[in-house]
Amino acid sequence: MIDFQRILTSINEAASKEKDRGKVADYIPELAKVDVNNFGIHLIDSKQQSYSAGSSNKPFSIQSISKVLSLSMALGLIGDEVWKRVDVEPSGDPFNHLSLLELENGIPRNPLINPGAIVIADILVSQLENPKEEFLSFVQNIANDHTIVFDLDVAKSEKRTGFRNFAAANLLKSYGNLNNDVDVVLDFYFHQCSLSMCCAQLTSTFFMFMNHGKCIRNNTFLTIPQVKRINALMLTCGFYDEAGEFAFEVGLPGKSGVGGGIVALLPNKFCVATWSPGLNPKGNSKLGMLALEKLTTETELSIF
Ligand code: DON
Repeated sequence: MIDFQRILTSINEAASKEKDRGKVADYIPELAKVDVNNFGIHLIDSKQQSYSAGSSNKPFSIQSISKVLSLSMALGLIGDEVWKRVDVEPSGDPFNHLSLLELENGIPRNPLINPGAIVIADILVSQLENPKEEFLSFVQNIANDHTIVFDLDVAKSEKRTGFRNFAAANLLKSYGNLNNDVDVVLDFYFHQCSLSMCCAQLTSTFFMFMNHGKCIRNNTFLTIPQVKRINALMLTCGFYDEAGEFAFEVGLPGKSGVGGGIVALLPNKFCVATWSPGLNPKGNSKLGMLALEKLTTETELSIF
């Protein structure tokens, strides 16, 4: 039997001693206020046993991690129609780059980079009567936790400074790959990214991706083929131009956000979330990546 608690405790101890913790994102001013010294980790296994260390119950902005959830909702609503508007190839580019979008006629490389997630947001705005409210309750139902909320200060802050996302949405619109108003789609997208969760809530939410599409209450949200595809996208595109490095060092499908969160999972075995707000130069949590490398090395558990 693997002693997950011992491993998480030692990961947390190592993290607390780390001097070089990366840099907190500041292009969304509200995120710059977060203390770089936070660190949390939470793991839930297939039997729903939980293990944690550090600030695993402190909420943070999940940012791009939410792209996996919006994609899941869109797949549930329109199925494979999604793939007519967004591709499934890694971009090898930073999350906010737009050059490939122009070269590839307004079809984003994948749904986990910003332009791809904005197309998914457009699909949800078209499909839902009250997009923000319905998306929030979709997430709350998966997590079985109705205390999960949007952080409205973060959403407002990103709206004020989200110039690249406005550029992306306008470019998509010029190619005919955005059906709704730019402002309406981005208002949804900024709220989606502002979802606030702690590591424990993230593992409850992402449990279904290690459990064949069934959430922690055993309700089915995704089919087995959909889960296969979403996990494949997390593995190949979840860390932008560092997806190769994450697969190489950690060896799990996962997703990062500029709030410093990472969630990763091993199908049938466990789902784990880390939070350390300092980012490396590629925009992924510096200590989160180190922590997950330690976890999969010490437990000898990875998809490889
Ligand atoms: O659109 C943005 O730039 C942010 N709301 C999300 C970016 C993000 O989290 C990238 N992740 N590593």
